[in-house]
Amino acid sequence: MSAIFDRRFLIVIGKGGVGKTTVSAAIAMEAARRGKRVLVAMCHTKERLSELYNVAPIDDKVRTVLPNIDAVNMSPETALTEYGVIVLKSKTLANTIFGNRFVAAFLKGVPGLDAWTMLGKAYYHATTVENGRPEYDMVILDAPATGHGLDMLRVPKVLMDVAPPGLLRREAEKAWSLFQDAERSGVVLVSLAEEMPANETIELYAAVTSELKLPVARLVLNAVLPPLFSAEERKEICELPKKLSPGTTLASLVLASRARALREGVQEDAEKRLDDTLKLERTNLPYIFTAAFDRTDVEQLSHAFATTS
Ligand SMILES: Nc1ncnc2c1ncn2[C@@H]1O[C@H](COP(=O)(O)OP(=O)(O)OP(=O)(O)O)[C@@H](O)[C@H]1O
Ligand SMILES: [Mg+2]
Repeated sequence: MSAIFDRRFLIVIGKGGVGKTTVSAAIAMEAARRGKRVLVAMCHTKERLSELYNVAPIDDKVRTVLPNIDAVNMSPETALTEYGVIVLKSKTLANTIFGNRFVAAFLKGVPGLDAWTMLGKAYYHATTVENGRPEYDMVILDAPATGHGLDMLRVPKVLMDVAPPGLLRREAEKAWSLFQDAERSGVVLVSLAEEMPANETIELYAAVTSELKLPVARLVLNAVLPPLFSAEERKEICELPKKLSPGTTLASLVLASRARALREGVQEDAEKRLDDTLKLERTNLPYIFTAAFDRTDVEQLSHAFATTS
């Protein structure tokens, strides 16, 4: 299995709000520093990458946002027309067909088509060669949150099973063989170091590996508080409030320390459970205390991947 920065297709997946876009942005920055040309592909979302990078809003047209980093917020309609252009080899023809309201209404009713057009577009960018070199060295798919992300990844398999022999099935097979190849692709699981998110991450890992049989490249724990106390100190701090009269500044400080100590204990337990169960390589990203989380913060997080091969 190759290291994440040698792979050309990364699927960043996790529960809603855990930091998938932040992690995608940070990995892209580290890859760009290594001289790789990267595309961050979001899936028809209320995109926040532009805020994280302090750039203009990102739409469904691929655009360079930072040196070596392109980004797109894929839309199923645009992706479908682009797909049509590739297949029909004519922009005019594709626009005529897909711009037709009856065709559009028909296609809207095809289950999984939206997901497939976006996955297919991401796959296409990961494999296109221009002037003898790949268009991108790495495509990072910032996948929809857990359930929707899994549904999206299920689509190529369904197409392989039910689509009649032909172009659609062939394309799905090609994409699926890239996604399943641990040398070239990998899933990056993003989680928080807390009990419930850890449990959900374990379930997500099971679905990704047992059901979909996709290689998992790494676990990223986001927003981890850097530990201030050892296990021994945590125990002592938890006993302290009893020994102090309430209402004093010192008592308040001790209560604050206890809250932090308890939280660090929860983090440690979650980390251990995830490590014992998943046995994955793990990167911890620190919680950053800031009023406006933006490019300098993502850049700081990206350095956590500097030692990752
Ligand atoms: N390490 C961190 N330290 C502090 N704040 C963070 C950190 N990571 C993320 N955040 C904050 O959490 C917000 C949500 O993160 P992000 O948008 O990456 O989550 P997401 O998983 O992509 O969410 P969604 O499921 O909505 O797409 C960020 O905009 C940022 O403000
Ligand atoms: Mg996101």
